[in-house]
Amino acid sequence: MNSLFIGQNRVELAVVNSTNNYALELSKTGRIADGTLVWAHEQTAGRGQRGNGWQSLPDLNITLSIILHPELDADSQFYLTKVVSLGVKEFVEDLIGNCAEVRIKWPNDIYVGDKKIAGILIENILRGEQITTTVIGIGLNVNQHEFGAELKNATSLKLITGKTYDIKAGIDALCEHIEPRYLQLKTHKRNLLDVDYHKCLYRLDKLCEYEKDGTRFKATLTGVNGQGKLLLKLENGEGLSCDFKGVGFL
Ligand code: BTN
Repeated sequence: MNSLFIGQNRVELAVVNSTNNYALELSKTGRIADGTLVWAHEQTAGRGQRGNGWQSLPDLNITLSIILHPELDADSQFYLTKVVSLGVKEFVEDLIGNCAEVRIKWPNDIYVGDKKIAGILIENILRGEQITTTVIGIGLNVNQHEFGAELKNATSLKLITGKTYDIKAGIDALCEHIEPRYLQLKTHKRNLLDVDYHKCLYRLDKLCEYEKDGTRFKATLTGVNGQGKLLLKLENGEGLSCDFKGVGFL
C-alpha cells in the first residue's frame, strides 16, 4: 500500500446500508483521521446521485467512502469532483490498458466507451463557507458480469478485460491513484486538475443530443465553467451553461 494517508485508516464492514451514511455518522463522533476509508462487502441501501440508488452485488465490486478534511472554500467544491473523477479514471485506465477509452461523463461518472463503470457521490460538511469534511463515496464495478435490465448501461472491469480482480488490492490501488490528485489540490496545482479534467470529458467537442426542460436539442460540449457547470454550444452558436439537474445526455 503506497499511499501516505488515504486508506491508511480503514473500517471494513460486512454489511451496511450505505458506506456514505456510515462515514457521515462517523464524522459526527469527532475528528476522524484524514483519509479514513470505510468499505463494505455489501450495501443494502447504496445511494447514488439525484436521489437514485446504487446497486452492487455483495463482494463483487468496490463500494467505499473516503473521509477527507479539505478545508476548501465552498465555491471551490467542484475541485473535489475533479480530483476524485480523475483518480478513479486513471485507476480504471491502469487496469484496462488499451482495451477501450476511459472518460469522465460530467460531472463525475466514469465511462468506458459508452458504458458506466463507476459512480461517485460526494457529500460535504460545511462550517460557514468552508468544507471541513467531505465524504467521497465511490461505487466501481469490478467482477460483476451481469447487470439487471434497468442497468443496461453498466459495465465492469471483468466485462472489459475478462479477468477477475482482487477487491482489496483494487481498493489499495484506487487510494494510490486518488491521493496524488488530492495533493495537487492541496498544493495549489488547480491548473493541472483543470487541464486534465477538461481533456478527458466524455463527448468533448462532439455534436450530440441533449435534453433540457423536456426539449431535445443538439449541441457541442465545450467544457465546464469555474462553478463546474456544463458548457454546451448550440447549433446556432449560442452558449448554454447547465447545472447537474438541468440537463440530460441522450
Ligand atoms: C452515482 O453514480 O449515482 C453515484 C454512485 C455512488 C455509489 C457509492 S457506493 C459507495 C458509496 N456509498 C453509497 O451509498 N454510495 C456511494
